[in-house]
Amino acid sequence: PRVGVIVVAAGSGTRLGQDAPKAFVGIGGHTILRHALRGVFAAPEAQVVVVAPAGREGEALTDAREAAGARAELVSVVTGGATRQASVAAGLAALWPAVQVVLVHDAARALTPPAVFERVVDAVDRTGWGVVPALPVIDTIKRVDGDRIVEAVDRSQLAAAQTPQGFRRDVLETSYAIAAEEFTDDAALVAAAGHRVAIVEGDVHAFKITTPADLERARSLAAPIPA
Ligand code: CTP
Ligand code: MG
Repeated sequence: PRVGVIVVAAGSGTRLGQDAPKAFVGIGGHTILRHALRGVFAAPEAQVVVVAPAGREGEALTDAREAAGARAELVSVVTGGATRQASVAAGLAALWPAVQVVLVHDAARALTPPAVFERVVDAVDRTGWGVVPALPVIDTIKRVDGDRIVEAVDRSQLAAAQTPQGFRRDVLETSYAIAAEEFTDDAALVAAAGHRVAIVEGDVHAFKITTPADLERARSLAAPIPA
């Protein structure tokens, strides 16, 4: 396939505070990873690299094969690193030669609809730029210094970034090769390397499961996965 999706699932989920790593916490009898992969495999065909926590590769492969169905030959699992950036790098190293467009997706955005994947790939194809799905910021945002409000921030200049973030493979690989610090997301890393990045419309369901309240919300929103 000409598209590759790296699903980073190697985090520990400290803020979620469950006993399993976040990707293996349950939503309605299936793991967060399994839900995330449902969206990935409902999108157009792609190589899928799941980046799992060390020691959990087998479980990740089971979830991935189940989610892949007839596309099982497109799936592989690699071991993640100490940071998200290291985990993405591990995923990049597993891409097949034919892949030209790479999407990097957080397993923790378990309910991301397939349309977002399509939108991002289309925009990368059309522009050659990095592409980030994003939503307008709804809350009133203040810049603060301790507990003192310094100023209001103009919301129209802000966007909340989600994943999957998409890039031309050569752009993402060269940007990773020269990255000299930790970046908050792939878009920031690619922008720091001098490449252009644009936004497309995100989706409310692509929120990241970070806290116990997010998990509750995901559990109330998730459609059951058919047996
Ligand atoms: N991730 C990863 N490898 C890491 C850290 C994070 O693959 N070393 C992945 C997570 O599995 C998650 C995504 O990056 O799908 C976004 O990270 P985050 O929401 O911060 O997840 P965790 O790092 O697991 O959570 P926390 O920061 O609360 O520990
Ligand atoms: Mg983290």
